[in-house]
Amino acid sequence: MPDSWPTAPAHFLTGTEPGAEGILALVDRAIELKAAPLSVRPLEGASIALIFEKPSTRTRVSFEVAVTELGGHAVVLRGDEMQLSRGESPRDTGLVLSRHVEAIAIRTHSDEVVSAIASASSVPVINMLTDGHHPCQALGDLVTLKETFGHLDGLKLAFVGDGNNVARSLALVAGLVGVQVTVASPSGYQLEPLPGLVITDDPAEAAMGADAIYADAWVSMGDEATAAQRLSALAPYCLDDALLDLGAPGAVALHCLPAHPGQEITPEVLYGSRQRIWDQAENRRHAQKALLEAIVRAV
Ligand code: CP
Repeated sequence: MPDSWPTAPAHFLTGTEPGAEGILALVDRAIELKAAPLSVRPLEGASIALIFEKPSTRTRVSFEVAVTELGGHAVVLRGDEMQLSRGESPRDTGLVLSRHVEAIAIRTHSDEVVSAIASASSVPVINMLTDGHHPCQALGDLVTLKETFGHLDGLKLAFVGDGNNVARSLALVAGLVGVQVTVASPSGYQLEPLPGLVITDDPAEAAMGADAIYADAWVSMGDEATAAQRLSALAPYCLDDALLDLGAPGAVALHCLPAHPGQEITPEVLYGSRQRIWDQAENRRHAQKALLEAIVRAV
């Protein structure tokens, strides 16, 4: 890691906070921890709040087990059981929780809520998914790319589908460490311009020569009211074998899950030999262990 985290406390809100050097160090540390999962207990005596205002399978389990494997205690909080759901402010929530725990991780809708908690908190705050960002997913995906290809700089990653929070975090976090990210989405579903990001409406153009082709759900949490329009607009963006064939030799399929086989990805790709999707799901835990080790009590 760099000598000091650029923010104090060491928040992880968009995933760009550690800088390129810090992200690369976290990826390498995650790979070390994957090889020796019970080798260190830096969270001995520490409690970590995990707040879920939206459903989760991977993030919930990977964070809770990560904290346990690092020797700490996870305090898992459902949003609807907290005073947050009855109008207590994010600011007051951050002030109170940081008197009890060594880090606060939260999954919620609004990035502003996470920022308000972070502004009030004296301990690190981790974004476990907002409408705008999913930085822990991007960090875990870099671990998968590094263990698949042996390097990150110069890799080409094509994201096909809705220009959503996962696409944005990949553009920001993977882009920072030299991965060339292209996002292919139809009009109305495209990401805003970001440094280094290539945007197209043509999935074949994005996939051509890519080392990894990435899909995500077409109807994310909160998008249910527009499901029919989304399924129609995004239908040409399915990750199938034909799209994967356009990639570079050895190209792999990625998906952050949960998947909808037959929509954004075919079952043949999801369960086939060219995917690294189930490794992605596992690598969330190793990446988050590296992150927690680095930021809890870091400053
Ligand atoms: N990829 C991901 O964040 O999965 P969950 O929604 O199950 O946590």
